[in-house]
Amino acid sequence: MKIRAIDIKSQVILAPMAGYSDLPFRLICKEMGAGIVYSEFVSSEGLIRGSEKTEFYLVTDEKERPLGIQIFGHDPVSMSESARYVEDKFHPDIIDINFGCSVRKVVKKNAGSALLKDLSLLENIIKQVVRAVSTPVTGKIRLGWDHDHYVGLEVAKILEDNGAEAITVHGRTASDGFGNTVKRDFIKTIKENVRIPVIGNGDIITPFDAEKMLNETGCDAVMIGRGAIGNPWLIQNTCRHLKGLSFSEPKIEEKIDLCVQHLQMEIEHRGEEFANKIMRKFYGGYFKGFEGASRLRHALVTTKTIAESLAILKGFRNHCN
Ligand SMILES: Cc1cc2nc3c(=O)[nH]c(=O)nc-3n(C[C@H](O)[C@H](O)[C@H](O)COP(=O)(O)O)c2cc1C
Repeated sequence: MKIRAIDIKSQVILAPMAGYSDLPFRLICKEMGAGIVYSEFVSSEGLIRGSEKTEFYLVTDEKERPLGIQIFGHDPVSMSESARYVEDKFHPDIIDINFGCSVRKVVKKNAGSALLKDLSLLENIIKQVVRAVSTPVTGKIRLGWDHDHYVGLEVAKILEDNGAEAITVHGRTASDGFGNTVKRDFIKTIKENVRIPVIGNGDIITPFDAEKMLNETGCDAVMIGRGAIGNPWLIQNTCRHLKGLSFSEPKIEEKIDLCVQHLQMEIEHRGEEFANKIMRKFYGGYFKGFEGASRLRHALVTTKTIAESLAILKGFRNHCN
């Protein structure tokens, strides 16, 4: 797949996930074969205000390219200004616009999936952002606001007609949240009716789910979110499976080694105290489905220091030998 001149070398893309898609996690997923990695979404208003917290989300590294930075907001002017700011300061390969987030805090401000209820505002946003930057702009959408308003195809066409260079479609409506099943047939209809690349997203938790998404929708690539949290091997195994190669689940020792590496990367990225806290979100993914996993998880999420966490991980690793 190509987005303008960017050659995307793998059909497996890492989803933007607020609270997870930080630099260490993106680098790990890149190493596992992700074709594009996306930052978690950043607020256009926060960027314009010069919020330090917002900018911290955008610490990037050359090794993770091609990198997409995702912005959200409701005001075409601040969206285009923040896109230009992101382009000038962080030089992403892609600027993505969030039209899919259904979290109340975002929707209340008329951003994310709320824009699926106001297509003229949505059109104005994509138009102004595309005009403001020279970086390729893409959009991430859901199928509509609710089951009475499946506007996904209409939105995809608006995005394409106004210069978006790819679209990611999460095959649910905003009202679905993460419930109900992903409607691959709707993603297929969108794919059949636009010329720009379409990335299919939703509920890919095995390499076979990815194959199904590609086969049933004809989409150009798949995006993986929750399935990769603490299990970045899903990206590697999906890449292998899509190339017709065999794959296997990682051994417990491999999980511990990568988890320790992840922890060390987080220390470098955000310091010991916050590294210890953020890693709690990943342990559930790294350690499940083997004897002693729940005891290990419980021990790790209750540590107060990095030294304690490392000691537990090393102890468990020795016990595996
Ligand atoms: C914790 C979490 C945070 C998310 N943050 C974002 C975000 O910042 N931007 C976005 O477009 N989607 C966000 N999403 C949605 C995911 O990108 C993806 O569309 C969704 O999880 C469906 O894919 P999956 O079934 O593979 O997880 C988030 C999802 C989760 C679970």
